Formats: sequence, structure tokens, C-alpha cells
Amino acid sequence: MKAVLVTRAGGPEVLQVQDVPDPQPAPGEVIVRVEAVGINFADTMTTRGSYSGMPSAPFISGREFAGVVEATGERVMGYVQWGAAAQKIAIKPDLLWPQPKGWTSAQSAAFPVNFLTAYLAYWKAGLTDDAMEPNRWSAGHRRRVLIHAAAGGVGTAAIEIARVLDIESYGTSSSEEKLEKVKKLGLDHGINYREVDYEQRVKDLTDGEGVDAVFEMLGGEHTAKSLRCCRPFGRVIIYGTATGQRHQFDSGIMMAKSLSAHGVWLSVLAKDHELINRCLLAMRPWIEQGKLHPEIGHILPMEQAGEAHRLLLGRANYGKIVLRIE
Ligand SMILES: NC(=O)c1ccc[n+]([C@@H]2O[C@H](COP(=O)([O-])OP(=O)(O)OC[C@H]3O[C@@H](n4cnc5c(N)ncnc54)[C@H](OP(=O)(O)O)[C@@H]3O)[C@@H](O)[C@H]2O)c1
Repeated sequence: MKAVLVTRAGGPEVLQVQDVPDPQPAPGEVIVRVEAVGINFADTMTTRGSYSGMPSAPFISGREFAGVVEATGERVMGYVQWGAAAQKIAIKPDLLWPQPKGWTSAQSAAFPVNFLTAYLAYWKAGLTDDAMEPNRWSAGHRRRVLIHAAAGGVGTAAIEIARVLDIESYGTSSSEEKLEKVKKLGLDHGINYREVDYEQRVKDLTDGEGVDAVFEMLGGEHTAKSLRCCRPFGRVIIYGTATGQRHQFDSGIMMAKSLSAHGVWLSVLAKDHELINRCLLAMRPWIEQGKLHPEIGHILPMEQAGEAHRLLLGRANYGKIVLRIE
């Protein structure tokens, strides 16, 4: 079969489509004929060798996919850490779910990572009905969320979920063009961080109050800035380090406003099948009502996996990039 191989640790240039042996299913595993693969920022880090828990190259790239179970014909979407960007994958059924009715494999491959991460961020922020630690302080006013990289994969999913939960959304991006697109998706307030300081802008837009939650995937000084964007009892949900810098905190503002910072990492949480199934169950009615649908900016053939990574690293993607597996 053909697969997108990470041939050695490096940038997008190390990704190559090569012939590899078909996977042999272990006991309890099924074979899925893969039709589409969702590309994530984590795939760029995995390729570079900077994502913990990954094997050494060479290995097959790809962490989420959609296709058809060979033995049954069932249309499924699934999540792994690597190995999905291939014509076939052998996998235990625990992390396979039916494709939403009427969706294509491209749409289904764009769903699991972005929407589960975004849902878990709202859940951890205490803003969903099933939250383990609800943010009760926010009950008396319209709740607000600041979403970094609002026009990206997780960002667009978070905007759609904000609409469903009736949360006022503030989102940052490097480009006016991307912000125009996400405003059509339902973003209430777009902030171009190349032109204005988002911390000041959030302050201005909220009469100095701030937001209830910030979804923070940048690292470095942005964690402290995000904390300063919060209103009392606000929560910063840390789920990435796109800048490559360690998260910095502002403990003064954390004490002054009773703020907290929480982490969310799907790679680890995905092992809790009960939690993941609960998140999917919560989102299912919204999917059926047409309120959630992945925003796909690019669909590329598997031979262009390197180009997909370049688009993400160069901030030139909108929403999700999907690879077509033929
Ligand atoms: N913890 C988890 O479980 C989890 C799960 C999924 C994703 N993540 C993290 O969430 C973030 C978004 O992931 P994604 O796959 O949805 O990617 P994405 O948001 O679709 O793409 C990355 C976007 O981040 C923005 N960005 C800001 N600073 C950047 C920088 N220094 N380098 C590159 N891009 C930068 C760019 O948007 P603008 O041009 O609009 O700024 C870029 O388009 C990543 O940090 C990823 O590692 C974490």
C-alpha cells in the first residue's frame, strides 16, 4: 500500500509517499481502508521529532482519518497518534466512531481532533452543562471566550461550539481575510494581532471586564497575557505551544482575580474512552441539527502532505487541511 512516511526528523521536506507492506491486524483489530486524513499542527511537531511519545523515523504520519471498515463496510472516523496517512490502517475499534450521517470522509476526517479538543476546552473552562467543575460565577452574565488562532482547525470548531452554547466569542488571527471568514462562521469580535495588542483590545471591547475563558495554544508571554484578558474566576485553557516557548504565568493577576490555568491534551485524554464518548454524545445533536460542520480550507492529494504542513507552519491555512487518500 501507499503511505506518507516521515523519512527522518525534520520539516515538511522529509514527508514522502512510499510503498510499504499492508498492515497485519493484531487480535481485536480491524482494517480500515482510509479515504481521508485530517492534518494537525501536532503532525508538524511529530515530523520534527518534538512531540513526546512518538517513535523514531521512519514511521507513517497521520493522527486522524476517515474511511471504510474492510470487513463490514461501515463508514468510520478514527484517532491514533501516527499511522493514519496510509491506504490502510489496522486499529482497535475503541477509537473508531461512525461517520456522521450524510458527511463525506473528508468532513469526518476533519472532525475528531478539532472538535474533541474544543469541546474539552469548554468543558474544562466550566462552560458546558456536563462540566466537572462548572464556572458558577458566570451565571449572571453572558459568558465570553477568547479563542487564539480562531481561524485554524481547533479555532473554527471552538467558534461553532460557542454559538451553540450562546457564548460571546472573541478571536485572534494574523489576517483580516481569515477574520472575515470566521465572522461569517459566527465569531462576534475579530482581533488582528498583527495590528493591535489583543490584551488591550479585549479590555476595550469588554469595558475593562475581560472574558471567562481563554483558549491558549501559543505559549511564551501569551499565557500571561491571556490571564490578563480574564474577568474574575476566569480560566485559561492551555493546549499548545505554537511559538515553541514555555508558558509564562502572571501570578499577581491570578491571585487578584482568582484565576486559574488548566491543561488539556487530547493524546492523553483519548485513552479515557468513557470521557471521549461522553463528549461525542454531547456534540451529536448539534451535528444532527447542522450546527457543527468542520470548516475545510484545503483538500490535497496525499502526495502533497509536505505542502499541507507548509501551509500550517506558514500560518497560511484556513480551518482544516485534509489529505485525500486514493
Ligand atoms: N492539547 C491538545 O490536545 C491539542 C489538540 C489539537 C491542537 N492542539 C494545538 O492547538 C493549536 C492549533 O492546532 P491546529 O491543528 O488547529 O492548527 P491551526 O490552528 O489550524 O493552525 C495553526 C495556526 O496557529 C496560528 N499561529 C499563531 N502563532 C503561530 C506560530 N508561531 N506558528 C504557526 N502558527 C501560528 C496561525 O493562525 P493565525 O495566522 O490566524 O495566527 C496558524 O494558522 C496547536 O498549537 C496545536 O498543537 C492541541
